[in-house]
Amino acid sequence: MPHRKKTTLKTLPLIKLGVLLAGVYLICTAAYYVSHSRVQLPSPPRNALYKLKNAPIDARVKDLVSRMTLTEKIGQMALVDKDSLIKPVDIVRYNIGGLLSGASTKPPTNTAQGWKDMVEGYKEQAAKTRLQIPLLYGVDANHGNSNVPGATVFPHSIGLGASGNAELVQQVADATTQEVAAVGVNWIYSPSLDEPTDIRWGRVYEAFSDSSTLNAVLGAAYIRGAKVTTGDTQMVVTAKHYIGAGAMQWNTSMNKKYKIDQGITPVDESRLDQDYLPPYLAVIQAGVDSVMVGLNRYGNDRVIDSHYLLTDKLKTELGFKGFVVSDWYGMYEGSKTSIYQSNINAINAGVDMAMLPYNYKGFVRDVTEAVQDNQISQSRIDDAVSRILYEKFKAGLFDSTVAPPPISDVGSTAHRALARKAASASAVLLKNNGQVLPLKAGQHILVAGSGADNFGRQAGGWTLEWQGVDGNWPIGTTSILAGLKQVAPVGTKIEYSQNASFATSQKADVGLAIVSEKPAAEGWGDNPNPTLSASDLQVIAQLKKHANNVVVVIVAGRPLLLNNQFSSWDGLVMAWLPGSEGEGIADVLFGKTRFTAHLPLPWPANIAQLPIASNGKTKDGTSVLFTRGFGL
Ligand code: BGC
Repeated sequence: MPHRKKTTLKTLPLIKLGVLLAGVYLICTAAYYVSHSRVQLPSPPRNALYKLKNAPIDARVKDLVSRMTLTEKIGQMALVDKDSLIKPVDIVRYNIGGLLSGASTKPPTNTAQGWKDMVEGYKEQAAKTRLQIPLLYGVDANHGNSNVPGATVFPHSIGLGASGNAELVQQVADATTQEVAAVGVNWIYSPSLDEPTDIRWGRVYEAFSDSSTLNAVLGAAYIRGAKVTTGDTQMVVTAKHYIGAGAMQWNTSMNKKYKIDQGITPVDESRLDQDYLPPYLAVIQAGVDSVMVGLNRYGNDRVIDSHYLLTDKLKTELGFKGFVVSDWYGMYEGSKTSIYQSNINAINAGVDMAMLPYNYKGFVRDVTEAVQDNQISQSRIDDAVSRILYEKFKAGLFDSTVAPPPISDVGSTAHRALARKAASASAVLLKNNGQVLPLKAGQHILVAGSGADNFGRQAGGWTLEWQGVDGNWPIGTTSILAGLKQVAPVGTKIEYSQNASFATSQKADVGLAIVSEKPAAEGWGDNPNPTLSASDLQVIAQLKKHANNVVVVIVAGRPLLLNNQFSSWDGLVMAWLPGSEGEGIADVLFGKTRFTAHLPLPWPANIAQLPIASNGKTKDGTSVLFTRGFGL
């Protein structure tokens, strides 16, 4: 017989304590496992209300939320950059609600098919979760599905703003959506509704205009186009960057490497109501699904932790029913004390889905703890999750049975034709002495400059890479030079030298200087003095020697300071960042299409005029070089 310790009166309390502790341990462990859903909870039946396609969305959401554990809810709120996802199975383990390809996070095989395989692979993981909630996969499709080699690259928004053409914007958004959906992606982070007041900002080109009226019209048109059904689903669409992004002051950036991006927007309540909010109201009415919070500050407050801006203004006053998503570093910036506190502040302020470039496990842990500590209420979590799920249902993600558009939609002939049209529609004619434009059949034309034969420069940032590429990218793109050669009428002679070293002894009819800005994105494009480069100025000087007339075509994401150099030029065209179809610019230069665009923002004469108020008033009260709306 094994020796058993005898129970005595002395040992009894100890045993009782042991039993008590063991009991507490068991209860805690069980509670932990239930709350972390490690316990295999049953899968809901096939006929669960939320699975019924024809049931009202509100009822489906309510039913689904009622079946979710806290862990499943918090996982739904996590949006993880795909490069920081440690293992695909973490989508299942953490019930992750969305993944994104933040700037430059590509599939191992960087082709349209490679993108599709990657995204579908992640979606399959989500299908393995208990509740089978579909995964969102988001990308920046700022000017087409521009992460994907071979996709059509449309003009950046500033060019679309110059076109002032809502129908065109709607078509571009529709085509963009088709190309994005074709690779399995179901969420885009555009349009930008920022209103740039200072051309030194590196993100001017992502915006349509500094005019709130134009932003409202084009933003709503973009939503209508992007919400066209593809297969049997709709794209989830995000407008950004809420709010006042574009009106930050120079030298106020919170990012030490930047100057104005992520800076401070001065508090101005009448501006908030009259300028910044109306475009958001317009996109809400057009059916936008989500709004991204800017990384800027509104006075002393970070927008990300402002209950007033996110909940009182956006959700309550404007009646926004979709979900609020944070931007890249946003979740880490809501508090100076800790990331834990930052998460609490952002969620309590009104952020529903957290973009997490790093450490999603930490987010899940922090938010779980914060709910258990009553720092974030259950009802706030339920509201956030309900908003995300509502949009997933609305987009048809739970019910989709039809295949997405074919992969051949990426870079299709029809989309390229549209991009060409959009490039023509966005080019603004600013000077045309002696009717030097359009170029005429039979002329001898010298082409030079950094932007003439450089797809990367004409496409700008957010093309293939976050910062864009500087140089020619072969897949399906046409440089402006190639476009000129294609479009030139028979008998026209075109010669090209990037640095304008022409041997011609006789003067040509026209020297075309296609000058440009290096591609850049976000704060890396902040520039204290955006102007023409010395080498491009040299090109212009050379062309003046070799040609009777000089026309300058600027390929850039913002107006560049011209310092009156342009007084000696015969013609000036602002081409913005026209995208992959250089023929579009050739079309207007040769008069195949008329110039119809107008400046979507004022063109300053010098730095002292910055910032320029929305009514066109410069800081120093002097006149700009060209006002908004100017265009010949
Ligand atoms: C940008 C957003 C973008 C996000 C995801 C951020 O850095 O500010 O505009 O949507 O990255 O790529």
